[in-house]
Amino acid sequence: MQRLARRWHSQNIRIGFVPTMGYLHEGHLSLVQRARRLVGPRGQVVVSIYVNPTQFGPTEDLSRYPRDFMRDAQLCREAGVDVIFFPSDDQMYPGKAAGLYSTYVVEEVLSQSMEGASRPTHFRGVTTIVAKLFNIVLPDVAVFGAKDFQQAAIIQRMVRDLNFPLKVVVAPTMREPDGLAKSSRNKYLVGDLRAQAIALWQAIQTAQESVRAASAPVNAARLRKKLQQQIERHPDARVDYIEFFAPDTLQPAPQVQRGTHLALAVFIGKTRLIDNASL
Ligand code: PAJ
Repeated sequence: MQRLARRWHSQNIRIGFVPTMGYLHEGHLSLVQRARRLVGPRGQVVVSIYVNPTQFGPTEDLSRYPRDFMRDAQLCREAGVDVIFFPSDDQMYPGKAAGLYSTYVVEEVLSQSMEGASRPTHFRGVTTIVAKLFNIVLPDVAVFGAKDFQQAAIIQRMVRDLNFPLKVVVAPTMREPDGLAKSSRNKYLVGDLRAQAIALWQAIQTAQESVRAASAPVNAARLRKKLQQQIERHPDARVDYIEFFAPDTLQPAPQVQRGTHLALAVFIGKTRLIDNASL
């Protein structure tokens, strides 16, 4: 992959990159389209498909994370992807089981809150694998989804802090008709869990309406309480976190107003879903 990327660079061909864990959906494919627009018809669009073990906690869903390479490959072909980078664990983390892999990339500030607080080793795994993928694919531009808002902020920080010579573009969240953000993990929502999963989008809309209706900033603790009660009216929904914060710094906002960002994580049964939006 790296040799191919070097050859493209020597021919002045631009490389657009979309890192994924596969089980592709329209959210991923919207990033592919964005990458294509960014590099043009002569550019090369690379998608990586790799379920990265280091970003999963010991009790998380690594082994049952959905995988279907043949379907993903077909979707990539239809979307005009030029190359799929599909490495094995042994290629990405050589010798890891024998203790022979020992270098990680850690972002220390933006990674502390929200997903980082709930999943303590998650972002260390994400920044490590994304740094490695950048060094392998050598992209001019990499596209990430706003669906994972904190992840995108951390990658932008890492790229700036470590001088990766590429541009990061963040593309909007694609949703189902009822507002549920598209996600590979939506596959876990069987039976009446699927209907309850609209709790996240309902909460976002309630928060947006509260901010729109208010003539002054809204107290974050009170709004959080209101959203939690609304979400947990669904019998299988349990809030992990609801955070209000400044979108540029991810600093908590005690007062919520226009432009404050909302992110939330909610268990629907055993499935943990996340979503976020600007208010
Ligand atoms: P994955 O969850 O497969 O997501 C890959 C990319 O697709 C991420 O940038 C994510 O934000 C984006 N995405 C997911 N759902 C989306 C939606 N509904 N609308 C728009 N974009 C969406 O995020 C990861 O994988 C991994 O952490 C990864 C960055 C690949 C590192 O392993």
